[in-house]
Amino acid sequence: MEQLIERAARTHRLTEEEITRLLAAPEAEEALARAADAVRRRYVGDGVHLRGLIEFSNICRQDCCYCGLRRENARVERYRLDADAIVALARKAKGYGYQTVVLQSGEDAHFTAERLAAIVRRIKALDLAVTLSVGERSRETYALWRAAGADRYLLRIETTDAALYERYDPGMSHENRLRCLRDLRALGYEVGTGSLIGLPGQDARSLARDILFYQEIDADMVGIGPLIPNGDTPLGGAAPGDFHLTRRMVSLLRLLLPEANIPATTAMETLVPHGRELILTSGANVVMPNVTEGDYRRKYALYPGKICVADTPADCRACMGGRIRALGRYVAADKGYRRHGAAR
Ligand code: 5AD
Ligand code: FES
Repeated sequence: MEQLIERAARTHRLTEEEITRLLAAPEAEEALARAADAVRRRYVGDGVHLRGLIEFSNICRQDCCYCGLRRENARVERYRLDADAIVALARKAKGYGYQTVVLQSGEDAHFTAERLAAIVRRIKALDLAVTLSVGERSRETYALWRAAGADRYLLRIETTDAALYERYDPGMSHENRLRCLRDLRALGYEVGTGSLIGLPGQDARSLARDILFYQEIDADMVGIGPLIPNGDTPLGGAAPGDFHLTRRMVSLLRLLLPEANIPATTAMETLVPHGRELILTSGANVVMPNVTEGDYRRKYALYPGKICVADTPADCRACMGGRIRALGRYVAADKGYRRHGAAR
C-alpha cells in the first residue's frame, strides 16, 4: 500500500485495479491523507478558496431518488428568490470578502436562459467570479450564460455507472449528463463535477471508475460527498455514505488530479463534526460557505441535518476564516481559478 501511495503521489497515475484496492482499504486512510496533503500543498498551496453559496430556488423539475428537492416531495416548502434578491446576496457576499459566488438551485424553469443571463451580468459587474449550478440545459443556454460572463459550472455526474445513475435519477439520461459536461467544457467554462458516495449498488470499483473519468475529462473541480438519507425521498431508508470511504476518495482525487480545486463539502460535516477541517487536511482546498439568508437555508433541504441552518452569512464567513487559520492555512486572496502547469 505504502508503495502504491508513494507512486501515486509522484506520477499521479494508478490503474483502476490499484485505485479500487486503496478505496477498499480502511487501513490506508491516514497514509493517503498525508500524501494528498503534501501534493495539495505542492500544487495548489496553502490558500483555501472560499466560494459564497447562494441557494436561490429549491423548485426542481427532476425527481432524483436521494434529493429532498425532488418534484414529488410535497413536504419541502418551496421558494424562489427574485433577481434583485439574488444580486443583493451577491453584493453582500462581495462585502464579506468572497471573490466567487456559486448560484445554485433546483432545475427551475422559471429561470429561463435570458433571465439567468441578466442576473449573471449584474453580478459580473460587481467583479465576482460566477459559478452556476442549476442542472442540465441546452448548449445554447450554456453558451448564453458563458457570454454573460459565467466562469464556472458545477454538474455532478453523481456516478459514472450509467445503469445506477438512471435508476436513482429516473427520467434523466446518463448520456445527456455527459453531453452537458462536454458542452460546458467546449464553451470554455471551468467544469466541476463529482460523485455521490454511498448510492446502494455502488462499490469501490465504480468509484475508481469515477476518478478515472475525472482524470480523462481533466475536471477543473471535483466535489464529492456522502449520501445522507432523506426520509422524504425513496432512498430515505438507505445507509448513509461512509465518511472514511469519502475521505479516501478525496485523497485519491488529489493524488490523481493534483491541480484540481477540491471542496471540503458541507455533507461531510453533517456526518462528522469538524469534518470539513479533516477533509481540508486530506487533499481539499476549497470551502463553500453558505450566504443564503434566513429561513431559506433550512428550506434548501437536499438532506436532513444540514449544518449552519441557524447561522447567518456573517457567522459562516467568520467561522470558516478562523477554522482555516487554525489549520495553519489562510483564506486565498485571489479568485481561485484552476491552476495549470507544474507544481511550484
Ligand atoms: N445526500 C447527500 N448529497 C445529496 N445531494 C442531493 N441529495 C443528497 C443527499 N440526500 C447532492 C447531489 C447534488 C448536489 C447538489 O447535492 O450530489 O449533485
Ligand atoms: Fe457556518 Fe461555521 S461554517 S457557522
